[in-house]
Amino acid sequence: MDETPQLFASLLEPHHQTDTFKSSNDELTTWLQRSALLAQAKGTGRTYVWTDDANRVVAYFTVSPTMLHREILPKNAGHGEPETLPAYLIGRLALDESLAGKGLGGDLLRSALEVTCNASQLAGGRYILVDAIDDNAAGFYKHHGFKAEVGGGRRLFFKVSQAIESLGQAMKREQAARSGTQQATASRPRAVEREDHGTLTA
Ligand SMILES: CC(C)(COP(=O)(O)OP(=O)(O)OC[C@H]1O[C@@H](n2cnc3c(N)ncnc32)[C@H](O)[C@@H]1OP(=O)(O)O)[C@@H](O)C(=O)NCCC(=O)NCCS
Repeated sequence: MDETPQLFASLLEPHHQTDTFKSSNDELTTWLQRSALLAQAKGTGRTYVWTDDANRVVAYFTVSPTMLHREILPKNAGHGEPETLPAYLIGRLALDESLAGKGLGGDLLRSALEVTCNASQLAGGRYILVDAIDDNAAGFYKHHGFKAEVGGGRRLFFKVSQAIESLGQAMKREQAARSGTQQATASRPRAVEREDHGTLTA
């Protein structure tokens, strides 16, 4: 039986409860609780959350605009490109420990890709970057198609055009699942968007 509660997706807001959130990585827990709202107020980045029906945050990711320096790309990808390219950074991404290992991490990354791809449709942007917090996280991102920067650091990249393609394929799989051909995937609930999703605050 699936015991995942109904989840809601929205921007982080002051009334959301963050003190019950616990990531397996303490740094990511503390950042959400102490710094996320401040970073959002300053315009450094936006934090998107999944909450349960008691407004408790159970997952989050942050997105901000950034620049990619050509030298982190392999020669074939960087050839002929300007020195810096517009990009988006998914700086942090974490699930509450209680939800780990159920496939929801993949769904959370998909939500982050949707936000960055939508931003790129509005404002341009060629690449999506992630900062993997450790080797395990780097493995998770590579599993989802991100490539490691040249030089072996923990920054990984993905082309916006490829992300759009992979989101399209995921949507097709979801449609197939709804029509009954892939029942197992269809049974996992997705976070529904709150109506205030995307509200801008000064
Ligand atoms: C990273 C995180 C969100 C992944 O969530 P999760 O629930 O453990 O992973 P899922 O069950 O959703 O796995 C989704 C897919 O990724 C794969 N995966 C998960 N972790 C992986 C890893 N370390 N290396 C390779 N693949 C991995 C799974 O096998 C699964 O593959 P499938 O879809 O082909 O079956 C979660 O573990 C977490 O919050 N970790 C702590 C914070 C963190 O490291 N954040 C990332 C960087 S800031």
